[in-house]
Amino acid sequence: MLIKKAPDIKWSEITDKKLYMNRRQFIAGTTALGAFSFLGHSKAGPPKLQERTQLKLSKMGEYTLPDEVTAYQAATGYTNFYEFSTGKRETVELAKNFKTKPWPVSIEGEVEEELKLDAEELISKFPLEERIYRWRCVEAWSMIIPWIGFPLKDLVKFCRPTSKAKFVEFTTLMDRKQMPGLKKRVLPWPYIEGLRMDEAQHPLSLMVVGMYGGTMPNQNGPPMRMVVPWKYGFKGAKSIVRIRFTEKMPKTAWNRQRPEEYGFYANVNPNVNHPRWTQASERRIGEEGRRPTVMFNGYGDQVESLYAGMDLRKYY
Ligand code: MTE
Repeated sequence: MLIKKAPDIKWSEITDKKLYMNRRQFIAGTTALGAFSFLGHSKAGPPKLQERTQLKLSKMGEYTLPDEVTAYQAATGYTNFYEFSTGKRETVELAKNFKTKPWPVSIEGEVEEELKLDAEELISKFPLEERIYRWRCVEAWSMIIPWIGFPLKDLVKFCRPTSKAKFVEFTTLMDRKQMPGLKKRVLPWPYIEGLRMDEAQHPLSLMVVGMYGGTMPNQNGPPMRMVVPWKYGFKGAKSIVRIRFTEKMPKTAWNRQRPEEYGFYANVNPNVNHPRWTQASERRIGEEGRRPTVMFNGYGDQVESLYAGMDLRKYY
């Protein structure tokens, strides 16, 4: 992955949390959320953020953390979406007119019946919940993000995979008209990610449709993206258009590009360094200094049994 200079925005000046917490109290409406003019900003001024719509939640609070939630502006103004740009701040501007309606999604491969339906219809089948998760990028920075979505396992069930399905592959949009970053061959497009079936069916795996109380801004991957909190962020494919169940391990974009650096599993592991940098510690956006990285991003109690008997140095 291309490593860029640390952000010059002083994230610690951004005091979004209290306002975000207040907003949660009236989350049931569908009014447009403001453009976050209350956020602090660097000398260069805040990046322009898109208008969002509040999402109606059916539950919240079961998956939460004592940590301070990362400022909204950091989680949405410092993003990786290479189809638009490899610049983490340019994506806000370049994706501002990204069209995510209509959005056909196909369900294919080892399923009882292949299906094509619109993302809006698909999402409407599942009650939405909020989960506050640790988010650890392979580039050794981390955030605490309140995502909104539904369990991936419920989506898997809806897809009715056959007994032959061993993996799920997620393909994301590749639209040259809308996505200027596709001109660069930084990855073998389209962006593809995948999970083993038991990983996809783990209760922590989430199909995300929003964050911070509302819809997801374009640069974070609407209308739906994956979040698997014990894995590095690149597993979290954005703007998914195809879900395919397979017998064989999917050939994922980052693994094809640099197999020695990005494995299929990509579990957060402080004992296995990236060939070009350490994974033993990380920079939490909004904090000074670094903090130690925790095995499976702190979700070990819940997920280590998935990898019992596996050599995680080999299956990185
Ligand atoms: N999905 C697509 N389609 N394209 C991308 O470039 N980047 C990945 C992942 N999903 C990416 C993607 C990487 S490298 C990371 S770290 C996370 O998205 C970043 O998610 P965030 O920008 O919401 O923090």
